Amino acid sequence: MANTTVHNPIKMVVGVGSVEKVGEEAALLGKRALIVIGGSSAKKTGLLDSVSADLKANGVDVSVFEGITPNPRSSTVDEAAKMAAEKNIDLIVGLGGGSVMDASKAIRLAYSSGEPVFDFHMGVADAKTVQPKAALLLVSTMAATGSEFNNWCVITNWETHEKRAINPPIYFPSTSIVDPALTLSMPLPQVAKGGVDIFLHVMENYIMHTGGAPLADAIREAIMKTAVDALSVAVKDTNNIEARTSLCWTSSLACSQTITLGGGAGWRPIHLIEHPISGVFDISHGDGLAALLPAWLEQNMEARGDRIAKMAKNVFGADSEPIAAVEKWLDEVGMKMNLRQLGVTEDKFEQMAQNALDTSRGLLAKNLVHNSVESIAALYKAAY
Ligand code: NZQ
Ligand code: ZN
Repeated sequence: MANTTVHNPIKMVVGVGSVEKVGEEAALLGKRALIVIGGSSAKKTGLLDSVSADLKANGVDVSVFEGITPNPRSSTVDEAAKMAAEKNIDLIVGLGGGSVMDASKAIRLAYSSGEPVFDFHMGVADAKTVQPKAALLLVSTMAATGSEFNNWCVITNWETHEKRAINPPIYFPSTSIVDPALTLSMPLPQVAKGGVDIFLHVMENYIMHTGGAPLADAIREAIMKTAVDALSVAVKDTNNIEARTSLCWTSSLACSQTITLGGGAGWRPIHLIEHPISGVFDISHGDGLAALLPAWLEQNMEARGDRIAKMAKNVFGADSEPIAAVEKWLDEVGMKMNLRQLGVTEDKFEQMAQNALDTSRGLLAKNLVHNSVESIAALYKAAY
């Protein structure tokens, strides 16, 4: 059983209607806020207007930075940090999915340090010593990454197409608001991509974990099963708020330290192998994961067949043919796909495989399978 350190200093405000607390929570953290949003959803749904009004009603000044894209770019983050400095802000409020939440974390770091954010993601500068100049409040509008309940942040340098994740303390939000009703406006394909991401955050850890930790296994099986069942309901009954609430809870827990409770450890090889795909081809993270999943399971059967079988039995109720059970679920929620359909081209397989190795901090090189350019490129090929 792995030794575990748990430190997750985030105030979570969760539940239907909890977005109404945003002004009150913001006022506890700062006086001059920069609200960060993506392309258009926060405007279309009226969220930007209502949050701005609530902040102002609670005595918080508001500036807005819009235009964070999916697979957020370091250049956009640096631009927003300049605006934060011009306005001398003391609070960043991110309203959106994983991309906006990650970008908000990164803006906090770039603003506080005065340095280009990608220097930290490359390890050229050290984020651990940077003192925050602004608090960070996140309002999650998607169930997917769990960025609201962790200190991970994934940023892409669009010049080099390197997508890199780091998790320094400054990337812990001060407060996060998770209101499942905000997720009802998500387009259906986005709901399914998010559900696959939630499932894989736990499944990869679960399958890579060896050494026995019954409580951690039980926690992780419960999160996976809840997410899998809730997604099956949410794609059919699109206004089912209970299913959306379950997806939100599992989203927050799945990519947090919760899944290490009970002595669980593990890591996420599919994620490391997916990031170069979305970093080069700008596809959705959830699509990339879904395309890799069946082939990854297939190629891990020899090394980790016992863990794959246990997952399939306890999550999908499958006594045999574990991969078929996972594929059936992917099909049912509209996520059975391959890399070719997503527009990925074979000429980039080696470059992406090398990039996965380079950005994995040595984890992939020590792996039993998918530990070299050849083996990772072979996985891309099988998922093609
Ligand atoms: O940009 P807008 O207009 O807001 O539209 C977004 C975007 O087009 C839209 N959207 C979000 N909430 C909505 C909504 N549309 C309607 N109603 C709503 N309530 O959805 C689209 C996708 O959003 P995005 O934030 O890109 O999706 P996701 O949450 O999947 O985030 C993906 C990013 O997070 C990273 C991924 O690599 C990727 O860059 N990850 C972050 C992690 C973390 N910080 O812990 C872990 C993950 O494994 C992941 O790597
Ligand atoms: Zn993910």
